Amino acid sequence: MSDDLLAEFVSAIPMPALMVDQTERIIAANTDAKTLLAQNIVGRHFATILRQPQVIDAIEQALLTKGPTKTRHLSNDGAQDTTFEVECRYLNGVGAVSGGALLAIFQDVTHVEQASQMRRDFVANVSHELRTPLTALMGFIETLRGPARDDAVARDRFLQIMNDEANRMNRLVGDLLSLNRVESEERVRPKEQIELTGLLQSTLNSLRPLAEDAKVQLTLTAPEGPVSLTGDNDQLRQVFTNLIENGIKYGGSGGSVEIQVLASERDSAMRGPAVRVQVIDKGPGIDAVHLPRLTERFYRADSHRSRQLGGTGLGLAIVKHIINRHRGRLRVESDLGKGTTFTVILPR
Ligand SMILES: Nc1ncnc2c1ncn2[C@@H]1O[C@H](COP(=O)(O)OP(=O)(O)OP(=O)(O)O)[C@@H](O)[C@H]1O
Ligand SMILES: [Mg+2]
Repeated sequence: MSDDLLAEFVSAIPMPALMVDQTERIIAANTDAKTLLAQNIVGRHFATILRQPQVIDAIEQALLTKGPTKTRHLSNDGAQDTTFEVECRYLNGVGAVSGGALLAIFQDVTHVEQASQMRRDFVANVSHELRTPLTALMGFIETLRGPARDDAVARDRFLQIMNDEANRMNRLVGDLLSLNRVESEERVRPKEQIELTGLLQSTLNSLRPLAEDAKVQLTLTAPEGPVSLTGDNDQLRQVFTNLIENGIKYGGSGGSVEIQVLASERDSAMRGPAVRVQVIDKGPGIDAVHLPRLTERFYRADSHRSRQLGGTGLGLAIVKHIINRHRGRLRVESDLGKGTTFTVILPR
């Protein structure tokens, strides 16, 4: 095969690919390889282009043994670190120089790496979150069997704490299952016809006891007449329950949580008919540094306070997935000392 034919052949490979012959020069490279490495690489010695020791080794080995080798090439695309899996295969009898040449193909495995990193982080987080209440439970069981065995007052107090900790674990498992369910049906469009004002009214009613305990006034402002849209009733209820509950728990010091429903025929964010539900509190607000990460699993802006209030840090992650499923948007605006507004925008 002539070098021209080889170049033609390499250009058809849908990922970065290049060829190196026995003179150790690059004899062909496709556009993806040039974008990844450098523009004028054909004709150059491969080691002046691919400087990472493990890549040089893999290529030298393949040229020497004429057998397959495999390694990793680390790079950065400007926005993030990228990882490529490099497979070298020897092709006997190709190339202008006798003895054949090697084909190196770079497969981008960045997303695979990221997914497995996320999975590891997730398992570590879940274990940590479960371990804290579990350790407390085990400690109290020990105490109840030993020193506090005959102390009725201490026993009652410990049982109360154990009850709280067990409830926390139960909530955590419930939230994890819920997140799992929501994630697995994220691509299934909801089909129910729902009426939003009624849904919000009934959500508010079930949160009234919590609000009364926290001395928080709940108010709902909505357009007259029904606000109907296609959605999943239970899931949207879960969204507003968490947002209003957060408003009460974290913003309750402001004394009120307002819910406002605004319907419009042409929403700027949705470029079409949509409805906005705002949950507004006058509490301490959230520092801007936290805002971009708020919907990450287990992320808490004020982790001490959130744990104390029994939060699992999964609420907004679930909210985010449900809103995605509805092709909607979630926005947060917060002013330290003034309060926080969460806005849910749903297409109609
Ligand atoms: N209205 C708010 N005002 C101040 N901080 C808030 C507000 N809403 C949420 N936060 C912060 O965002 C964090 C994440 O909220 P999220 O609902 O995801 O978790 P959570 O409430 O701690 O747990 P869960 O909802 O599972 O019980 C909270 O821990 C809290 O620090
Ligand atoms: Mg919450």
